[in-house]
Amino acid sequence: MVFTLAIDGPAAAGKGTISKAVAAHFGYAHLDTGLLYRAVGQRMLAGEEPIEAARSLAAEDLEHPDLRTVEAAQAASKVAVIPEVRAALLDFQRTFAQRMGGAVLDGRDIGTVICPNADVKLYVTASDEARAGRRHKELQERGRDISFETVLAELQERDARDSARSEAPLKPADDAVLLDTSDLSIDEAVARAVAEIEKKTHA
Ligand code: CDP
Repeated sequence: MVFTLAIDGPAAAGKGTISKAVAAHFGYAHLDTGLLYRAVGQRMLAGEEPIEAARSLAAEDLEHPDLRTVEAAQAASKVAVIPEVRAALLDFQRTFAQRMGGAVLDGRDIGTVICPNADVKLYVTASDEARAGRRHKELQERGRDISFETVLAELQERDARDSARSEAPLKPADDAVLLDTSDLSIDEAVARAVAEIEKKTHA
């Protein structure tokens, strides 16, 4: 069975957590597409030309220990503006979406560009403060000494760049279900997502 679930939304809205939980619940495979852009960004930070880096991206690039840093996130959103970088990553994402047994992809343009025919599309949002609070906690737990204000500014800068770019900008697909997680616990957000998928699969 091919079943594709597209989860998009701004930085740190809860896409990753929801995607992982939903994939585990239904036994689907999960692809965090942000990691692809972070890996290209990381190679750019190491001095490589981003288009070449995207074209030669390898599995081990996704294992780089620094991909979850604020610096890698910023670099990701800079390389993500380049149409040739996006084009180089397209086939891998589409092939993943078509694998048997179901696939969840989370990112910015999954419902709009990568998988416009996805079976279910969710657009996950939360207030800037909620998102920055969660990311701040995450970074602190990983030992990063960084202020809430710095994290908030980083997310806002990235969202602005992601929304303003001409190629595959961040925006909800017309047929996406909006899920605002500002006041939801992880369990509640996951339960909403599961309910949306069940609606589709039992329809
Ligand atoms: O985890 P967080 O939501 O902060 O970011 P991410 O999903 O890892 O994505 C990092 C950056 O990659 C984003 O700010 C986007 O610029 C870019 N990205 C994209 O352009 N398209 C995607 N499908 C996924 C990520």
